[in-house]
Amino acid sequence: MAALQQNAQATADEVVRVVDISKRFGRLAAVDRLSLSIKAGEIFGLIGPNGAGKSTLAKMLTTLMPPSSGSASVAGYDIVRQPRDVRRRIGYVPQTLSADGALSGVENMMLSAGLYGVPLSQQKRRVGEILATMGLLDVAGRLAGKYSGGLLRRLEIGQSVLHRPAVLFMDEPTVGLDPSARRSVWTHLLGLRRAYGATMLVTTHYMEEAEEYCDRIAMIANGRIAAMGTPAELKAKIGADATLEDAFERLVGAKSRGEFEIGYDRAGEDRRASQQHG
Ligand SMILES: Nc1ncnc2c1ncn2[C@@H]1O[C@H](COP(=O)(O)OP(=O)(O)OP(=O)(O)O)[C@@H](O)[C@H]1O
Ligand SMILES: [Mg+2]
Repeated sequence: MAALQQNAQATADEVVRVVDISKRFGRLAAVDRLSLSIKAGEIFGLIGPNGAGKSTLAKMLTTLMPPSSGSASVAGYDIVRQPRDVRRRIGYVPQTLSADGALSGVENMMLSAGLYGVPLSQQKRRVGEILATMGLLDVAGRLAGKYSGGLLRRLEIGQSVLHRPAVLFMDEPTVGLDPSARRSVWTHLLGLRRAYGATMLVTTHYMEEAEEYCDRIAMIANGRIAAMGTPAELKAKIGADATLEDAFERLVGAKSRGEFEIGYDRAGEDRRASQQHG
């Protein structure tokens, strides 16, 4: 056990290091002895069917949920022993919508600046910078409740980086968006990385965007990594002309728990999201 804990100590260029982490809910191992590491500046994608364990892993790494066993460090700090240090260095965009529709874009941003402890004297300037980076200056005065889905997601991402986190965790940042809104979210994420050098962990169900924007990808099924590598490496496992979708079908499809059906909770979640996006 002591050895495992030492293993979670990251080397210099590893910003996230996960060693044998598990999360059990009763008899279900939602995350099952999973290990991975993410280097500074990487965009790391987690893909896998509904119920694969992606959100559970993200919640453990953001200290929202303790692991059942195993260990992990984020930005050099242990998620179990140093959760406050971890929280100061991360941003988190949850799967469900989190912006307040009754406040304007800039009001949502100012609220987050306070929440994340941005010094008062720097709040306005920092909010202005991030609104610009996320392409939101023109709509900053409008109520977030009137934003399109893409604008709302960009606002939420902006809210999560006001304190310049070393690592940004985003759980399905583009779910339910049309292709052009999705592209715009990604363009602004790349802009964020250029401006601040953040490392990013992103979950998505969209293979094309994982292929286009992620430096490396872990395919997850049943709480375990079924395959991991660059998009090119994953495709090469299947064949010269394979798409990432083909690779996913072959590497993950057969191993899945068979939870492809959208459950009641998730359907409700998507409905709420589309109403708010409406
Ligand atoms: N708080 C909880 N209590 C009990 N079971 C849970 C809890 N949270 C998640 N689970 C179960 O753990 C498994 C993994 O769920 P998780 O939300 O991590 O999957 P996911 O990969 O994020 O799926 P999706 O693509 O639908 O978002 C599922 O079987 C889920 O029902
Ligand atoms: Mg999820």
